[in-house]
Formats: sequence, C-alpha cells, structure tokens
Amino acid sequence: MTNLHSFCCFVVYIVLIHFIASLSLITSQIHINEIANGITNNALFIFGDSTVDSGNNNYIDTIPENKADCKPYGQNGVFDKPTGRFSDGRVITDFIAEYAKLPLIPPYLKPSIDYSNGVNFASGGAGVLPETNQGLVIDLPTQLSNFEEVRKSLAEKLGEEKAKELISEAVYFISIGSNDYMGGYLGNPKMQESYNPQQYIGMVIGNLTQSIVRLYEKGARKFGFLSLSPLGCLPALRAANPEANKGGCFGAASSLALAHNNALSNILTSLNQVLKGFMYTNSNFYDWLQDKINNPTKYGFEDGVNACCGSGPYGGIYTCGGTKTIKEYNLCDNVDEFVWWDSFHPTEKIHEQFAKALWNGSLSIVGPYNLERLFNNDIKLMTIADVVDVPEIEHGF
Ligand SMILES: *[C@@H]1O[C@H](CO)[C@@H](O)[C@H](O)[C@H]1NC(C)=O
Ligand SMILES: *[C@@H]1O[C@H](CO)[C@@H](O)[C@H](O)[C@H]1NC(C)=O
Repeated sequence: MTNLHSFCCFVVYIVLIHFIASLSLITSQIHINEIANGITNNALFIFGDSTVDSGNNNYIDTIPENKADCKPYGQNGVFDKPTGRFSDGRVITDFIAEYAKLPLIPPYLKPSIDYSNGVNFASGGAGVLPETNQGLVIDLPTQLSNFEEVRKSLAEKLGEEKAKELISEAVYFISIGSNDYMGGYLGNPKMQESYNPQQYIGMVIGNLTQSIVRLYEKGARKFGFLSLSPLGCLPALRAANPEANKGGCFGAASSLALAHNNALSNILTSLNQVLKGFMYTNSNFYDWLQDKINNPTKYGFEDGVNACCGSGPYGGIYTCGGTKTIKEYNLCDNVDEFVWWDSFHPTEKIHEQFAKALWNGSLSIVGPYNLERLFNNDIKLMTIADVVDVPEIEHGF
C-alpha cells in the first residue's frame, strides 16, 4: 500500500517534471522569438523640444534662439559640424538609439530620409500647447500630424501588416513641457492672468494626454518619457530669479515642473490601467538632475550652477553662439566639468549619464519598465530585485 502510494507519487512527479520542462521550453522559445522580432523591428520615434531636437529647426523659419546650427554647438567633434542639437555634442536620444543598436535617428525635415528605424519630430522651443512659441516651432500637434505622414509612407513602402508591426514594436520617446512653463506661462503675463498655475498645468497635461492617446490609437504601445528638470535651476532662470539677491534657483519655475511631473506620473498610471498593452518608462529627471546640481563633484563635475557657454550671471544670458542680439559670449575651457552647456541646456555628459539611467537604471530613477526592457520586449515589471542592484548601478553614474 505504502509502496504503491510512493510509486504513484513518483510517476506523478516524473510526469510533472516533464510537463514543466516542456512548458518552459515553449515559453523560452516564445521569448526568443519575441526578442528576435523586437530586434529586427526596432524603431525609435522622438517627439519634443530642444532637449531632443536633432536638427529639425535647421529647416524652419524661426529666431536664432531656437537654432543650434553654428559653433560652439557640437564642438566636441562627435559630429563633423553643428547639427542643430542644443548640446556640445549628442543628446539623450542619440545615446538611447545607440544602446538599442539603432543608427542615429534622422530629423523628420531632413530631405530623403529612411523612416524604417524611426524618425525624430522634435523642435527646439516647442511646447505641448500650440500657443507656446506659436509660429516659431513645430508644436506637438504638428509633430503628431507629421508622424501620421510617416505612418502612411511606411504602410506604402512595407505594406499595411509590416508597418503595423513596426509601429507597435517601436518606442515613442516624448520630452516636452519646459517651454510651456518658461516662455508659455512665466514669460507670458496674459496667460498668467487667464489661468492660475493649477489650471494651466491641467491644460498642459490634458493636451499631453490627448497626444499620448492619439499615438496609442495609431498603434503605438511602448512609450518613454523624460520628465521635466528643476527648471528654476537652469542658468537662465537662476539669473532671472526675481529674488536673485537671495541667490539660488527660481522657485516658481521649479514648482511648476514638479507639479507637472506629479500630474504626468498619475496620468501614466491611469493610462496603464485603461489602455490595453500600454507600456511605459517614466523617470525622475527632476531629483536626478537636482542631485548633480547640488553635488557636482560626487558625479565627476566641478560646476552645477554656471553655463559653460553664455554670458552674465551664471552664464544665464542666452548668447551662446553669437547669433543672437548680443554677439559676445564666454566659453569655458573644459566642458566636461559642467552640468550646464548653455543658459538652458545641459552638457552631453549629462545627456549620456541620464540616457544610461533610463536604459538600465534602478527603480529609484526609472519605472515601471526601463528602456532596455521596452526595446527587448522583456515585459516583466521591474521588481524589488532592481532596487537591490542600486549601489552597483549607481556606481556607473
Ligand atoms: C547598462 O547599459 C549600458 C549600455 O548598453 C552597458 O554598457 C552597461 O553595462 C549596462 N549596465 C548594466 C548594469 O547592465
Ligand atoms: C488643450 O489646450 C487648449 C489650449 O491650447 C485648451 O483650451 C484645452 O482645454 C486643452 N485641452 C485639454 C483636454 O486640457
């Protein structure tokens, strides 16, 4: 009786082992296929402002403040000449493309480009709201219309099925909002009369949400967001601080950025619940950059306050390049010591460090997925194990 019992158990045990083994074989095969698919179809579509513009503004009629097409922009020699990136070299999405093993993502307005690895629609000075720098930039609604043109063209070239697959496997990276709060609100007394900060943030977030949903309806599933930086600590805003005699950052600007980030984070949590298959990477760029600003030496910088290129207090007068009204500007000797490249934009070194954090950083900075997982279809949510890795990963920054 007992022997029979243990024999039965033994058989059940063996059968179970086989069953589990075959299951995991099947799932690992599915997994391998997914990854293989992910790699062949990888594409990156970029929307936003000067944080990620790779040259679209070179092709539009705008003011010199919205262009970065002359030296010392791009001075570090990664590109053979200034490209329109608001940096001494590359920007965050260039690094993301590199980590995803993609070529550089071309700006939409560059003639005769290939769309099949993605396109960059971003425009320096652009906002979520069409009112922000109206007539001088490619605003977010127009960036979305341009994406629709690309989608149609892909469908013509690859066929509906293939295009659909590419669109749903691609990552959509969105970095926008700073201009709505700086020029669009704090620099615009009329807007401040019409809306209190809370109403204005509601409007920006409302429109941003509509854009995300519009992309989702076109087939986009994987999203990455660069949250807003502590805006009041940009050299330009530090210099414009009405309480400058007290020193420090422009509190009102940073508060708007923080409230925007919190609202965006809540919206993304909700979208995740209502939109089937919606996946995203969000980040805490605010705290991350504030830490670099406050403790530059801890991260390999010397200066977290002043712009390498610019003039006046903190290099906060936006003269870098000498193409604007004031022609004289100062340029630092060693850009790698600086958090800030010009009066509004961080250095390539900051772009690279944060790209790494978004790619495979810990849950304290990025979540619920990191970009590596989005690109590789490794769609496990990040877990406590990712937090345990913190000391090792943080070491890289
Ligand atoms: C994170 O990704 C970068 C870029 O691909 C790589 O060099 C680095 O080794 C990765 N770090 C970890 C901890 O996986
Ligand atoms: C979008 O922005 C416009 C102003 O450009 C505003 O009138 C409208 O209410 C906003 N939409 C949402 C959903 O918040």
